[in-house]
Order: sequence, then C-alpha cells, then structure tokens
Amino acid sequence: MARIEAFRLKRPEEIERMRVSGRILGECLAHLAAAVHAGVTTDDLDREADTFIRDHGCIPGFLGYQDYPKSLCVSVNDEVVHGIPGPRVIEDGDLVSLDCGLILDGWWADSGLSVACGEASPEVARLIEVTRESLEQGIAAARPGNTIGDIGHAVQTYAEAHGYSLVREYVGHGIGRNMHEPPQVPNHGQPGTGNVIKPGYVLAIEPMVNVGGPKVRVLDDGWTVVTADHKLSCYFEHTVAVTESGPEVLTLRPAHAAIA
Ligand code: MF3
Ligand code: CO
Repeated sequence: MARIEAFRLKRPEEIERMRVSGRILGECLAHLAAAVHAGVTTDDLDREADTFIRDHGCIPGFLGYQDYPKSLCVSVNDEVVHGIPGPRVIEDGDLVSLDCGLILDGWWADSGLSVACGEASPEVARLIEVTRESLEQGIAAARPGNTIGDIGHAVQTYAEAHGYSLVREYVGHGIGRNMHEPPQVPNHGQPGTGNVIKPGYVLAIEPMVNVGGPKVRVLDDGWTVVTADHKLSCYFEHTVAVTESGPEVLTLRPAHAAIA
C-alpha cells in the first residue's frame, strides 16, 4: 500500500521539481494530440504515451494505479474519462479525450485535453472551446486569497452559461508526491467556500463538460465513465501551482505545438 501523504504546502524548490515533470507531460500530450488520426487505435495512442514517458526518463503514473492497466486514458465521444485503450479504431469526427500522468523523481504531473479527429463538427468544436475556456476560468480563480469553491464556481458558471452541464462524481485534486492529495477540487461550487488557497498549493483542475445532462455511469470494465444520456462529453486538465504572483500552469504544451 502506498502511504498517503497528508496535505501540505509545496516549497518553491518542490514546485521547481514539478515544473520539470509538468513540462514533459505538456510535451507528451502535444505529441499525442498530433497522433490522433482516423484509423489509429486507442491502444496505438497508449503505446505512444508509454514510449514518450519512458524515453524522457519518467514513469507512466497511471499504469498500475489502482490496477489501471494502461499508461493513458482515451475517452471517445460519450465517454467522459478513464476510457481504457484497446482495439477501438478512431474515426473522423470523433471527439477524443486524452488523460495522462507521469512521475519524475517522485513528483507527479497530471493533465489532459480533448481534440476532434479530422474535421470537427460545429457542435464538437464549440464543446471543445467552451471546455478549454472553463478550465482557463478555473485556473484564473486559483490565486492566493481565493477559495477552492471559487475555482468550481468559475468553471461551472462559464460552462453552464453556454448551456452545458458539469460532471459532479469526479473532481480535481491536490497533487505532488501522490497523484491524488487533498483538497478535492470540484467543478462546481459557491464563491468563498472551502479552503483558502495559498502559495504552495498545487492543484489538478479538470472540468468534465457534458452537452446533455450531468449524469454518468461506469461501464462493466470498471473504469470507463460514460454519459447516462450518451451525449458528448469533453475534458481538459492542467496541473497548476499557486505562487505569490498567482496561478502557474505546470503542464503547458510547448509554444510550437499544434494544440494549445
Ligand atoms: N486524471 C485522472 C484523475 O485525476 C487520472 C486517473 S486515471 C487512472 O483522476 F488510471 F490513473 F486511475
Ligand atoms: Co487528475
């Protein structure tokens, strides 16, 4: 059993270590997003992820985590998160959500994004943009003096204003020497509620945004989360450090990447 470390603020030199793991994960996800093409299987993407992570001297964090069998989660269309890679072939127009985690010298990074395969329908393009921006709104709220509830409120307000709903069963989290540390970071909330955010918090913020209702269920594989109404779902995640000067995204994709 892994020892679950109690929540504590990260020191600047610890955040510096997490910058390194975060940067590699940002590069990894840019690489994976560029590999999403019609005809590619979700297993192909998993292999790309696993190879990239090891080639960069890191450990695939998801592999074996609570017995999860792969190094990447790939969730397609009505799949929300935790889709297990396999023989499924990605087709043009699919909405593909990629979620990946890695460990470098004991320090975790956790991030994800959604892309359309080939040409995005207007519905998919709008969902991706709103979900990406709802994460940005949440990140902007992750500054000293605000609360965890302010993050959820920012995410929720933005996505709901565009007619979408937020999944509530899965939440963001503190991250550091473990992938999941306190506090939980829900994608909904009331302003001014929850822990006060201080420099030294490092949070994974991860909105899951549904076109239809917020309800989800888990498939018989024990992992894959799908929307109850089988409408589209989209997801973005960043690992974010809070410093004196505000939020800093540790898992940014490189400037030259095709995907922001
Ligand atoms: N980003 C996901 C999370 O924060 C990753 C968990 S998937 C698992 O919960 F495979 F690692 F379990
Ligand atoms: Co996460």
